[in-house]
Order: sequence, then structure tokens, then C-alpha cells
Amino acid sequence: MAAAAAAAAAVKRVVVTRALPAATMARLTSRPDIAVTAWEAEGAMPAAALGAAVAAGGGAAGVVCMLTDAIDAALLDASPALRVVSTMSVGYNHIDVAACKARGVSVGYTPGILTDATADLVVALLLATARRLPEAWSAVKSGEWSSWSLFWMAGKAVAGATVGIVGAGRIGSAVGRRLRGFGCPILYTGASGRKPELEAELGGGATYAPLDDLLAASDFVVVLCSLSPATRGLFNRDRLLRMKPDAVLINASRGEVVVQDDLVAVLRERPTFAAGLDVTTPEPLPTDSPLLTLPNAVVLPHIGSSTTACRTEMADMAVRNVLAALDTGTPLLAVPL
Ligand code: GLV
Repeated sequence: MAAAAAAAAAVKRVVVTRALPAATMARLTSRPDIAVTAWEAEGAMPAAALGAAVAAGGGAAGVVCMLTDAIDAALLDASPALRVVSTMSVGYNHIDVAACKARGVSVGYTPGILTDATADLVVALLLATARRLPEAWSAVKSGEWSSWSLFWMAGKAVAGATVGIVGAGRIGSAVGRRLRGFGCPILYTGASGRKPELEAELGGGATYAPLDDLLAASDFVVVLCSLSPATRGLFNRDRLLRMKPDAVLINASRGEVVVQDDLVAVLRERPTFAAGLDVTTPEPLPTDSPLLTLPNAVVLPHIGSSTTACRTEMADMAVRNVLAALDTGTPLLAVPL
């Protein structure tokens, strides 16, 4: 009887906030020392349900979450047994990492795994915005396409254009590599300053520039920095107006890096300016958002890493991070706390 009680007490509960592939779930469910509470319904797990699941039965030891789940101090306090939070994302601004550190909770994430998928999407969005693909496709469907015409649907040339990358981390560097293939000189800026290894890798085609110089000189500005107090609202009216009047802004970091109302105003004032956004504030973007009425804005539903292969690998890594943290105390890919 005592042995059975001890075995039950040794079982650690893991809350999973979204349906995961069967093979990934099996990593958890095949373990006799792990019990799983999974959110099986469509869509994001509501915050109240997540709180209740974390608190239930003496408290969860691990949480596998996504960027839509707010992991704050109150949630962490719901379970005295909590040891690890593991997110299926490279960004972790939805997790209060200081609160995790204070409580001895480690944080796992999925850097590297989504670099190529996201860099591909960024280049696709840049090309789609520059060459007005959504507008052109709509014109075909609506019958607006009457005849071949010299400047109808004329867009902005990408080959050879100067591309400024704000946040030259893994994904920013991968975007730079791709766009060097288009003959684009790359300017970059970011919290880590000059990166001689990136400049060497891009064969001298990349140059470090302070943000204001980069904004003034770039035909395309690609935002890939992480969201932090320093980058929240970085792209306000003042900085947007420092860009060339016919520049294209691409944001695939977090919506909050751009002051969206300022962006809408600048897009209205400058019809030659354009924006391609994979991230917005809020998400999902309400269908009555003024952004969706502007011909010079292309909006995607935060699909940077969304290939089947990449999302499968992200989910698997998130679960392996939880298991490693519960077994050894440290996720395989751990956010430095
Ligand atoms: C996506 O935005 C991520 O952070 O993985």
C-alpha cells in the first residue's frame, strides 16, 4: 500500500496546451512516471482552463505551451510542483522568465529548428509585398484584369535592392544569406552589434549599420528582433518616416515592435510605402482592422515557421525539452535565465 502511494506520488503531471502529433504525445504517454493533461479542443487553451489544469491534483511539474499561452507569475504559483515550462517557439516574450527563475522553473524553447522555415516565409512575404501578389491575384479573381498593360500592378524590384535587417540573429542571418542570392547588399543592426562572422559568411555583402543609417539607406527593412522593453514600439511614426518614402517594411518578429496605428497612418500618407506583416497587434487581427483595407499592406496570420515538417519538429523538441528538464533538471534547449 505504501509502495503504491509512493509510486503515485512519483508520477509527474505534464500539461500540454494544444493537440500534438501522436508520435510526439507517445513520448509522454509511454512513460509510466508521467501523467498527461492535454487540451484536445480546437484552438488555444483558455487561460482559466490552463490555470485549472496546472493547479489540479497537487500541481503539474511541466507545461508544454505555445506563444499564445501567457505564462505569468500567477500561473507559476498555481503549482508548487512546477519544474519546467517548454514553449513551441523561438520567441518567449509570453513567458515571465524572471518569475520562472525566481521559482526555480526552467524554460525550454525551440531555436534553430524553425530558422529555415521562417527565413523562407520572410523572403516569400518580401517578394509578395514588393511585387503586389495578393493585389494581383485579387484582380484576376475580380475580373479587373483587362489587358496586359505597361505599368499595371508594377511593383518594386528586389534584385540588387538594399535590404536592412533589424535583428541579425539566426533567422536574420538566414534571410541575409537568401537575399545575397538576389544580389542584395545587406545592412544589419541588432543588440549584438557587429558580427564579423556574418560579414565573412556573406562574402563582404553585409555591413553593420546603426539603426537610423539602416532605415535611411534600405529599400527593404526586415524586422526580426525579439520583443523586449528595448524593441517594443521601436517602429513608431518617427522611425517609419526615416525610411525611404517607397521603402517596404517586413515584420516577422512580434506585432508590438511596430506601433500599428502609426504604421497605418504612414501607409495612408505614403501610397508608395508598403508593409508585409506576418505578425500584428492583436493576433488574430480583427477583420475590421484598417490594415486590411490598405492596398499597400500584406498581412499573414503568423505563419513564419508553419511547414508541416518544422511544426512537427518544434512540437517534438518542446516535449523532449520537458522530459529532459524533468529527468536532468535542464531542457535540451534552455532559455538562459
Ligand atoms: C514564432 O513567432 C516563434 O517565436 O517561434
